[in-house]
Amino acid sequence: MNSSMQPRARSGPSARSLSPVGPPWVLMVPSESARRRRCIRRKSLPGEPSSLFHRSMEALTRWQRGWSASRGWTDVQCIDDVTVVRVGEPQRRVEYVATGQHATAAAHLALTDCNPPGTSWLTITGPADRVAADLGPLEIVRTNWLMTVRLADQVSYPVPPPYALELSATPSVVEAQAYGYGEIAATGRMAVLHTGAVADMVQTDPAHRRRGLARAVMTALALAARRRSATTAYLAASAEGRHLYKSLGWTTLTPLVVARTTG
Ligand SMILES: CC(C)(COP(=O)(O)OP(=O)(O)OC[C@H]1O[C@@H](n2cnc3c(N)ncnc32)[C@H](O)[C@@H]1OP(=O)(O)O)[C@@H](O)C(=O)NCCC(=O)NCCS
Repeated sequence: MNSSMQPRARSGPSARSLSPVGPPWVLMVPSESARRRRCIRRKSLPGEPSSLFHRSMEALTRWQRGWSASRGWTDVQCIDDVTVVRVGEPQRRVEYVATGQHATAAAHLALTDCNPPGTSWLTITGPADRVAADLGPLEIVRTNWLMTVRLADQVSYPVPPPYALELSATPSVVEAQAYGYGEIAATGRMAVLHTGAVADMVQTDPAHRRRGLARAVMTALALAARRRSATTAYLAASAEGRHLYKSLGWTTLTPLVVARTTG
């Protein structure tokens, strides 16, 4: 899971919406702040189970907030249903997060911002073959998967000997490190925001893999998050990480296409 330029705010049809309470001919024009707040929302597609759809929407929002908290990215704004995170790293100036329905808007923002080529990134829900056309000339880098679990359902796995585990914490992020053979063997983080927790940067050094270290790190993080009153956890899994999380009972909500501007 670095100063960026401001993407251009746009006006247009998306700035207008029908009043939910007034007569159907009354058009409400939301204020700029209301328009910016209206982020990561859309109607479910025909045939899409609405419960899964709403879980995915909520999960995307919660994941983005937790991911940003974990990385210390505080400059977050909504433009045309796209969450704009100003990351400010040399290789990743900005991250646009949106549902597949708003992929075109996210691509437009990325293609018209003033960042150097290759430094504007996007995370868009949906399978790559469905999203690709809306992303135009952007490069699809990989697919991740948005996953979730109820923390109460998590089984505990202790750290295997001779390894030891250490936890450290800030007000919103818990970090776990597994040590062994004189080195850091595995690490992971969990951002905890109210009842939602977001796992991030889970990795095991290649020399220490398949010994149950990531499983123990996830156990420790899940327990720490529960102690802070979190009930549900989210993460964006890599292809490798997905095996781990599935083995721990996490379920997949949607693929996440990771793309960027081309150099
Ligand atoms: C994914 C990763 C963290 C797993 O770390 P690990 O310490 O080897 O994982 P564990 O030993 O705790 O694995 C626990 C279980 O997860 C599953 N699992 C883990 N890695 C797997 C893999 N590469 N393929 C298939 N299953 C895997 C298995 O069920 C495993 O149990 P088993 O070994 O008894 O079969 C590690 O491969 C890694 O750092 N990868 C690169 C970074 C990355 O992708 N991180 C995840 C970001 S979301």
